[in-house]
Amino acid sequence: SAIFLKDYKVPPFLIDKTELTFDLDEATTIVTSRLHMRRNPTFGKSTAPLVLDGGEDVRLIGVAMDDYSLPPEEYRISEGKLIITATADKFVLTCETLLEPQNNTRLEGLYRSSSMFCTQCEAEGFRHITYYLDRPDVMSVFTTTIIADESRYPVLLSNGNEVERRKTDDGKTLVVWHDPFPKPAYLFALVAGDLAVKNDVFTTQSKREVKLQIFTETHNIDKVDYAMEALKRSMRWDEEAYGREYDLDIFMIVAVDDFNMGAMENKGLNIFNSSCLLASPETTTDDSYLRVEAIVAHEYFHNWSGNRVTCRDWFQLSLKEGFTVFRDQTFSADMHSETVKRVEDVSFLKTAQFAEDAGPMAHPVRPASFIEISNFYTLTVYEKGAEIVRMIHTLLGKEKFRAGSDLYFNRHDGQAVTCDDFVAAMQDASGVDLTQFKRWYSQAGTPIVTVTDTFDAETGTYRLTMKQDTPATPGQPTKLPLHIPIRVGLLDELGSALSATVDNVNSEDHVLHLISNEQVFEFTGLKARPVPSLLRGFSAPVKLRYDYTPANLLLLMSADSDGFNRWSAAQQLAVNELNTLIKQAIDGETLSVNSQLAHGFKALLSDVSLDPAMVALVLALPSQAYLSELANPIYPAAIKQARQYLKAQLANTLAEDFERVYREHSILGEYQATAEDIAHRSLKNTALSYWVETKDETAHRIVLEQFQSANNMTDQFSALSIAVNSQHEKAAELLAAFYEQWKDEPLVVNKWLMLTASQEHDAALTTVKGLMEHPAFDLKNPNKVRSVLGGFGQSMSGFHKEDGSGYRFLADQIILLNKRNPQIASRLCTPLTRWKKLQPELSVKMKTELERILSEELSKDVYEVVSKSLA
Ligand code: ARG
Ligand code: ZN
Repeated sequence: SAIFLKDYKVPPFLIDKTELTFDLDEATTIVTSRLHMRRNPTFGKSTAPLVLDGGEDVRLIGVAMDDYSLPPEEYRISEGKLIITATADKFVLTCETLLEPQNNTRLEGLYRSSSMFCTQCEAEGFRHITYYLDRPDVMSVFTTTIIADESRYPVLLSNGNEVERRKTDDGKTLVVWHDPFPKPAYLFALVAGDLAVKNDVFTTQSKREVKLQIFTETHNIDKVDYAMEALKRSMRWDEEAYGREYDLDIFMIVAVDDFNMGAMENKGLNIFNSSCLLASPETTTDDSYLRVEAIVAHEYFHNWSGNRVTCRDWFQLSLKEGFTVFRDQTFSADMHSETVKRVEDVSFLKTAQFAEDAGPMAHPVRPASFIEISNFYTLTVYEKGAEIVRMIHTLLGKEKFRAGSDLYFNRHDGQAVTCDDFVAAMQDASGVDLTQFKRWYSQAGTPIVTVTDTFDAETGTYRLTMKQDTPATPGQPTKLPLHIPIRVGLLDELGSALSATVDNVNSEDHVLHLISNEQVFEFTGLKARPVPSLLRGFSAPVKLRYDYTPANLLLLMSADSDGFNRWSAAQQLAVNELNTLIKQAIDGETLSVNSQLAHGFKALLSDVSLDPAMVALVLALPSQAYLSELANPIYPAAIKQARQYLKAQLANTLAEDFERVYREHSILGEYQATAEDIAHRSLKNTALSYWVETKDETAHRIVLEQFQSANNMTDQFSALSIAVNSQHEKAAELLAAFYEQWKDEPLVVNKWLMLTASQEHDAALTTVKGLMEHPAFDLKNPNKVRSVLGGFGQSMSGFHKEDGSGYRFLADQIILLNKRNPQIASRLCTPLTRWKKLQPELSVKMKTELERILSEELSKDVYEVVSKSLA
């Protein structure tokens, strides 16, 4: 049954103080809660019963009101909820519950990971710990007492400051934590274990000393230095860029191996999936280093955008997530290269978020309803949500945006608010009218912006006609025009930037405001017809259609002053050539293309003035996933074939260039995760991935050498991936050697599982079935499941096997995981939700599997995704 945004009501009761006691034990944990409650004055006069959220896995031992123990006839439990009819206006409710954390396979609430206890309460995990008003607009001051056996659990952590530590009469250790900041239950956290710690300090801009601690299992503590430095950079950056200072005296991070998502911003006690925190040159690739830095920053930034100012209800999730993603993207851009970061983020958005927005789970950034909120931690809420904040930044400009953010934090500090409140603060501080703009929050689907142009040589006037159209999405058959900021520049035929006048403003760069279904923009003061550089920096999350000639694209690719659009032009050129090849493959023709891209690449490979990271990004052909997003219908085998063909074609045409670039960008010396070194490795390995396609013997030998002699995981794993993807004759041997070398490093093994599972070959399905039986696999560990089944979903030959056996296999795993870990099971459904877009023969087979899943007894999580996909 769905929950609707329009039904929101303030809570009938408030909880001023929450006192929790956890008596942790291997077999059972007893939780005692004392909730200082009163009726909410803003709810209005009411005698409504008290309804507390709980879970089937929580066993109620006893409940008391102001120390009067309630007999069974004075309360009842229905559908997981505890209902108490008669209550005073103000009272203390005491609840005792019994949990079995070791049997908690959902990884929501309190659970075991390796030898420790930990929690995950967002969004609605707290109700699996005790009965509570588990909603973000109920904010309370928490005091948490943890009792445990010191020998096994010397480290006992919760939110805020440790205020007491002593021995109990029966020889256990008791620790009390107090968090002075009122918070919703989703930000509660507890950790207990035998953990190693790395200590540091940070002095805030107002000269307060904050103690920093990162905890891991003992064998991992040598891998937290990078995260610690990233944390300090984040703390400084938030002071400088947003004027936000940290507020407690201590900030802790704990790494756990079993975690459904990336990380969690619990107040003062962030909990991380170890894959998003640990890093060392030998075991971690450059990509993962950057991910660690970005996620450390993301969770830290939530302390203000999320914790000090939180969400009124879960429909407002993007209030904290969209804003915080925008903040972490800007931070990473500041730490490294702005253009590289933008290309990576946009590429991800256009591949995955656009696919979501075009599929059966499409929803607005602020959804209007949901069955299971966990299903809405989506690319739309996070990434498209960040694009909305970025567009506000574009519309207001840097200074006014900062004024808006200051006003937002000051006005709403300590409150649970809505996306409307965020926009109102931006509008009030800037005077910019965002009324129409706000439709971005409520309208799903990716707008298509179609651009045509004319040039009037007599008056020197260039006209751009823009049309916008957002396709229908489930539940939203018609769409209103959005306010779309479109950054545009003009180039002459040699690629020089042209000044032109629009609305009396003369500039080389304009932000056009597309607010109607169709609009004409007039540029005056031009001598000849220009080439337009449209949607610079990807100024809005739209699909742009303009009929560029290959020559236009080559010009933009080599000369546009906007680095993002240079990349974008190259992508468009590649997409055009690949689409020609895909069509040939579908029609069973011999593939052939007169590649213009090769000319562009040639120029690029000899231009030493360029950032090597950008060159590598331009050289990367559009992924199979992106080509699938663009296609309708999707012919997986044709996409794979076309892409392999073009890659080999480019490799053969430019073999010498790739070899030279490979050698020029090889770095000797110690590994460093700096933007500069990362850029060189990225270009070097991209060049090698082409060079090896020539079947040149030297290239093949170099892959082996790099695999064996690399002093860092980036180079070693690149060599391995290149061997696997190019079907190197030694690929199987290298895979085996790699596993042997790294079998005691779980995070490296995960990468091995992913690569092995995503291989393109006829036996892909058999390989994956074998992996599920491999000693390195563990169905209880979300990272392993994601590596193997997520990797498999990317393999065109395995997943999209003609007889549908790849779909059947994935469906079997979803059914298996549905009860055990509904969140993970639901995420695994994503590739099956694309069935309507697949070529007819495959589409029916995929649909059959969805129907088979739907016939099972399902968790809310899986039910929502599968039923909506079939609707
Ligand atoms: N708030 C966390 C983050 O953005 C994500 C936690 C979501 N967890 C979940 N089970 N849905 O970093
Ligand atoms: Zn977040």
